[in-house]
Amino acid sequence: MNPIISFLKQRRSVMIRNLNPSALPQNDLLSILECGTRVPDHGMLTPWQIISITGKHRGELGATCLRSEFARINPDATNEMLEFEENRFNRASAVLCVISKPVTHSKIPEWEMHLSAGAVCQNLLTAALALGYGAQWVTHWYSYNDKMLSTLGGNPDTDKIAGFIYIGSMTKKPNERKRPNLSDVYLSFEHKKHEGPH
Ligand SMILES: Cc1cc2nc3c(=O)[nH]c(=O)nc-3n(C[C@H](O)[C@H](O)[C@H](O)COP(=O)(O)O)c2cc1C
Repeated sequence: MNPIISFLKQRRSVMIRNLNPSALPQNDLLSILECGTRVPDHGMLTPWQIISITGKHRGELGATCLRSEFARINPDATNEMLEFEENRFNRASAVLCVISKPVTHSKIPEWEMHLSAGAVCQNLLTAALALGYGAQWVTHWYSYNDKMLSTLGGNPDTDKIAGFIYIGSMTKKPNERKRPNLSDVYLSFEHKKHEGPH
């Protein structure tokens, strides 16, 4: 079988708890980023940005944003919970945040710009997995947090976090998860014509 098709058919995310934050060589990170930016983008508007969080910045952002915002939103949080928040990003070698930054355009709807940002996330994830790393695309609570968004350079009035891609070496190979049956999600138009409109 074609090796790319074979890879795509078997590709599986690796949960963050099964990642190890060992070093991620700069050339691998650059390859992953280059793949991430090579996505369909209607009108070539480049309506997104990728921010890499590596090294000491993982802990710094953990303290100044994750911990403090979690404590503000959850006044009853225990110290154990706050420690977890502070160290979230330290579980990966690199955390890549994709910010969807729609621009005003007379013909291209904002929805398509957000879809392009989703494609960036998927390409980053796929590239990391293809290089043999473990990786997961998550949003969690902090993707919807204005302080996190603005700290990473986004504008809370217009921009949205499409996701955080955690990348590290994998400590445990993932098991297969349930997949949809093709017949439940795919119908030929011929079939639809007989079914009639909803
Ligand atoms: C936009 C988006 C946000 C997600 N956010 C989370 C999350 O916050 N927490 C989580 O456990 N999984 C989240 N997931 C799901 C994980 O990425 C999960 O690992 C994935 O569905 C596994 O699929 P795969 O094995 O086909 O890659 C999210 C997925 C997407 C597409």
